[in-house]
Amino acid sequence: MNLFVLLGIAAVMVLIQQVLTRWIQLNRIAWLGIWWVALWAAFSYGINPPLPNSIIVLFMAIITIALMAYLSADNEELEEARQSIVRFMVAQEYRIALVIVLLVIPAAVAAWTYASMNEAPQPPSSGRTIHPPPPSSITFAGNSIDLATANNPYRELEHTDEAAFAAHVANGRRIYFQNCFYCHGDNMQGAGMFAHGYDPLPANFNDATTIAMLQESYLFWRIAKGAPGLPSESTPWSSAMPAWELFLTEEEIWDVILFLYEYTGYEPRAQGMPH
Ligand code: HEC
Repeated sequence: MNLFVLLGIAAVMVLIQQVLTRWIQLNRIAWLGIWWVALWAAFSYGINPPLPNSIIVLFMAIITIALMAYLSADNEELEEARQSIVRFMVAQEYRIALVIVLLVIPAAVAAWTYASMNEAPQPPSSGRTIHPPPPSSITFAGNSIDLATANNPYRELEHTDEAAFAAHVANGRRIYFQNCFYCHGDNMQGAGMFAHGYDPLPANFNDATTIAMLQESYLFWRIAKGAPGLPSESTPWSSAMPAWELFLTEEEIWDVILFLYEYTGYEPRAQGMPH
């Protein structure tokens, strides 16, 4: 029981009965309508734990019948109620109220029903594999690359020739901003200017679940082969990731990979560690 709500409803009912009826002539139909609303409010909000909707509908159906029976029990009252309905339908002064009752309320109910039925399409519930196992080898520009053993050929320059390494990273930066940032964003957060149009979203390279846990050869595969190279478990919701083998050289792809790790500060996953 929600005592405060019930007391509040009772107080409103006493107030209407005792005070308002002195000033305004409440006709019987209006009075029964107020009872109907009060009982509905009591069932909906006055009982804890809340009643299921179906029970409330059932109660309200019974109450509607009971109120109708009460109204029609006495011929005189029934006639009075009938006349007030007729007056409401024909009198000039009720014209606006009549339009509201006959048009606006049904239209609002229809709109509400439509809105609550009109569910936005949901993606199918089958899960999408974000990091499927890569193929054992790929062909790039006619050459076969073994993904299990392939390494970034420029990675070792980091320790042997810093200037050459910096040049490769700078080239990777250029490649990134000429090709990738439209989707992956200028902060590599996957929020580039085109990103909102795609499902799945472009990868966020700052997120610890993307490049931080992948090998460079895995990235090479993903960048070279893009969405078309993904196995079927990575659908539905086709990725928009282009196949960069059509536009970039092998060196350019390794360079952009260097830049991805330099910019985000992550280390690539070491070769030979399981996925
Ligand atoms: C047209 C938009 C678009 C462009 C341009 C684009 N990408 Fe992507 N990329 C995506 C989307 C979408 C995904 C996520 C779905 C997927 O894995 O294929 C993705 C995924 C990736 C992944 C996989 C990350 C992971 O965690 O598996 C890498 C790596 C990647 N992109 C690198 C690049 C690089 C490098 C470039 C530029 C040479 C680039 N992308 C350009 C849309 C794009």
